[in-house]
Amino acid sequence: MYALCVFFFLFASFNLTAGCPDCFEKIDTIIEETLRCKSKQIVGVSVAVVRSGDVVLEKGYGVKDLETNDTVTEDTLFGIASLSKAFASTLLVKLMEEKTKYSLNTKVSTIFDNEGIFIDSLRSKYATIRDLLSHRLGIPGNNRIRLDNNLTRANVIHRLKYLQPKGSFRDSFLYNNLIYGVVTNLAELIGGESWENLVKTHLFDPIGMNSSSFLTTADFEKIDLAKGYIDYYGDLKPVPFEFSRRWADLCGSGCVLSSASDMAKWMKFYLDEGKLADGTRLISKEAFKDLTRPENVITTTYTSTYFTKPKVPATTSNTGYALGWRTGHYRGYKMLEHSGTTFGYRALLSVFPDADIAIYTAMTGNDPSYL
Ligand SMILES: *[C@@H]1O[C@H](CO)[C@@H](O)[C@H](O)[C@H]1NC(C)=O
Ligand SMILES: *[C@@H]1O[C@H](CO)[C@@H](O)[C@H](O)[C@H]1NC(C)=O
Ligand SMILES: *[C@@H]1O[C@H](CO)[C@@H](O)[C@H](O)[C@H]1NC(C)=O
Repeated sequence: MYALCVFFFLFASFNLTAGCPDCFEKIDTIIEETLRCKSKQIVGVSVAVVRSGDVVLEKGYGVKDLETNDTVTEDTLFGIASLSKAFASTLLVKLMEEKTKYSLNTKVSTIFDNEGIFIDSLRSKYATIRDLLSHRLGIPGNNRIRLDNNLTRANVIHRLKYLQPKGSFRDSFLYNNLIYGVVTNLAELIGGESWENLVKTHLFDPIGMNSSSFLTTADFEKIDLAKGYIDYYGDLKPVPFEFSRRWADLCGSGCVLSSASDMAKWMKFYLDEGKLADGTRLISKEAFKDLTRPENVITTTYTSTYFTKPKVPATTSNTGYALGWRTGHYRGYKMLEHSGTTFGYRALLSVFPDADIAIYTAMTGNDPSYL
């Protein structure tokens, strides 16, 4: 529940009380106290808040490593897990626009020149890139397939024909990391380089996210990284780097490592609808609309169950899925959001375009109530 407190508090205070002179002290106090009372669950925290083009907060809390007690700073990298999906969709849309005749409506079968990608002919024949990016194939996650060490972003597509659908095509929301592995591979086929290199050249470098990295390629000895911790029978244990690296191979589904200060730049980029700090466009207006328009309906989420009226006074909802983003509202404000959970890390990013505010938090440790 920690993230939620911070989240509600930040948004309420920044939006409703212009100026809010003691905001930062209050936020600091809340996070510090939360860390103290949750010290068995949370090791490090990274927070960034952008409002009206300014970074109003970027800060690290807690420690990077329980053995050294080195403190987290705004430049310390955390796994952002599924917040990587927005990088995957943004990169793919950008590459398609620049390098190909492909569009979101292009059929997957034509790109891979394969008529039998899925178990049934309906999906094999008609599935498009937009279907891949919006989790609307009706194929459940099958996440444990990722424990197979032979699975890669390049060969995951050959497993899809064995997966039984549980929802109908284009008419259900079944979140699927394997499919984002296919999306990752697709970007590599179009861009002719590894996904990591493409994200670096097409997104990190122009946006100025110059300390961000990837679980798959980072030199763990050299980077300023908050170690991921999981609960192991009541004790926090570090997640072995080699496991994290292997688990992240699908990459576009969850391999990005980033810091509060870099994520602040990413949030500005999204608040500016795809423009860089100097005002030039990195992706077209149309591409930005495509990325943020809901393409699928989310029927059941944690927030829709617990944060709607009359149960709570301040409501929030995630009702749609765009491309790598959930869409919804918070207190009536339009919101783009994504959460990320992987071994050792949890993260949450919320963008409120009409309020010109975006909030990012990440943590290491194991707090199941973190949204
Ligand atoms: C790290 O901090 C913990 C808790 O305050 C303490 O018990 C431990 O001795 C510290 N370790 C080092 C290396 O400073
Ligand atoms: C992985 O690939 C190797 C070499 O092709 C093969 O021997 C092994 O059985 C495969 N493992 C699994 C789990 O498929
Ligand atoms: C990253 O960019 C910022 C300015 O955008 C600069 O101050 C900083 O030194 C750069 N860091 C690295 C590691 O290049």
